[in-house]
Amino acid sequence: MEASSIKHLLNGPEELINKTVFFRGWVRSVRKSKAFSFIVVNDGSSQGNMQIIADSSMEGYEQASTMLTGACVEVEGLLVSSEGKGQKVEIQAQKINIVCGVDEEYPLQKKATSMEFLREIAHLRSRTQTFGAVWRIRHHMAMATHKFFDERGFFHIHTPIITALDCEGAGEMFRVSTFDFNDIPKGENGETDFTQDYFGSDTTLTVSGQLQAESMAIGLGKVYTFGPTFRSENSHTTRHLAEFWMVEPEVAFYDLDDVANLAVDYVKYLISYVFEKCEDELNFLNFRPRIKGGKLGDAPNGKENHLDTLKGVLEAPVTKITYTEAIDILKNSGENFDFKPEWGIDVQTEHERYLAETHFNGPVIVTDYPKDIKAFYMKQNSDGKTVRAMDLLVPGIGEIIGGSQREDDLEKLNKVILEKGMNDEDLWWYKELRKWGSCPHSGFGLGFERAVQYITGMGNIRDVIPFPRTPKSAQF
Ligand code: 4AD
Ligand code: MG
Repeated sequence: MEASSIKHLLNGPEELINKTVFFRGWVRSVRKSKAFSFIVVNDGSSQGNMQIIADSSMEGYEQASTMLTGACVEVEGLLVSSEGKGQKVEIQAQKINIVCGVDEEYPLQKKATSMEFLREIAHLRSRTQTFGAVWRIRHHMAMATHKFFDERGFFHIHTPIITALDCEGAGEMFRVSTFDFNDIPKGENGETDFTQDYFGSDTTLTVSGQLQAESMAIGLGKVYTFGPTFRSENSHTTRHLAEFWMVEPEVAFYDLDDVANLAVDYVKYLISYVFEKCEDELNFLNFRPRIKGGKLGDAPNGKENHLDTLKGVLEAPVTKITYTEAIDILKNSGENFDFKPEWGIDVQTEHERYLAETHFNGPVIVTDYPKDIKAFYMKQNSDGKTVRAMDLLVPGIGEIIGGSQREDDLEKLNKVILEKGMNDEDLWWYKELRKWGSCPHSGFGLGFERAVQYITGMGNIRDVIPFPRTPKSAQF
């Protein structure tokens, strides 16, 4: 008999009511009484579980009614309308086959567990209700991303993971090499001789696909890349990963305003799509049981109803301010920041959160940052001090999108590359884009995990990527 998904069965499809159905999954709980047992099974297809009633006369009842949480089962039974509240249908079991049981050592028990503990058993946590919800939402956000850009005429491109360029110029890269670490070839000056390495140059894992996306936008017009990016920054925060996924659109003939509007439309699209596809998941995450005194379940903004907050975002226009205005707001806030706001400083997380949470109480776009704190490729304003950059800040997290209009003036670009002490030679092809058939163009990068955090309300970025990579941690 062909297996049905629990998601499908829970809808109570007419043609299956009062018919024998077959499904597989993992036991969430077993409640045994003398005459019958209630068994709850989930197969990952939805937030909803299937309730099974097994009568003591069923063959193999003894084994089935003593299964522990986590056992893998195959169930055959009648799909019937349910009188109990909470579910439309349930199963009257005819046969339960235990594919693989569990013993008492199985660490996932029915009682609530902390997020920290679950991170230590990352190989098992996908079986929990919380992580099931997060992974399904993450999936739908990826699908929404492709739909959003496809509907607007963008082409999905794949940019390289191995690169010889430091796009962001922050020097936070993981080296890619086939050298024997105990015998690294040296040149005459005693420095490592990368010409003998696999790629014949010093290569790293990419921090962004932007530079290649720019090259493809000048030709395809509208493109986006969605891939893994890597940063070796030693950040132990709830919003940094060493390996994260980034969605980077790049658009020919767009200026900063165009790309800022695109960013807002995209984020709103993600939110609506998740509301449409994952209502059960959102509700579960918003109202899941919370451990007293622990962090489990606390939405990052500490708000009780995260869903209303998200819905509010869909309706309101997103505020846009300049960096200079942002610094003024911070200076006049009367807040005692760890890092004193002054024109010229990089905006810190505490500042971003003050702006998005306290001052604007919603997403805010900050534009035109000082050129000294931003990457080399951003278009310079005529004031000689600022660049056409934009960051989208949201409550609870801070920056989820960073983008800019790109410098298309070759002379200015050459100057900045020198000023920032970058390796001019490696950028030869990037500069040639400005030499022939160049055009104004803009793009941004959305940190996919930060966006998942924002929408799910999960407090720690390690809990929105299945196998997080952070300093001193790459076990799973
Ligand atoms: O602001 P960033 O550094 O921008 C770029 O990399 C540009 N090249 C993007 C572009 O214009 N095409 O990074 C973009 C986003 C940030 O806003 C943040 O959401 C996320 O990437 N991000 C991280 N997410 C998780 N862990 C980290 N260590 C991150 N660093 C950046
Ligand atoms: Mg940034």
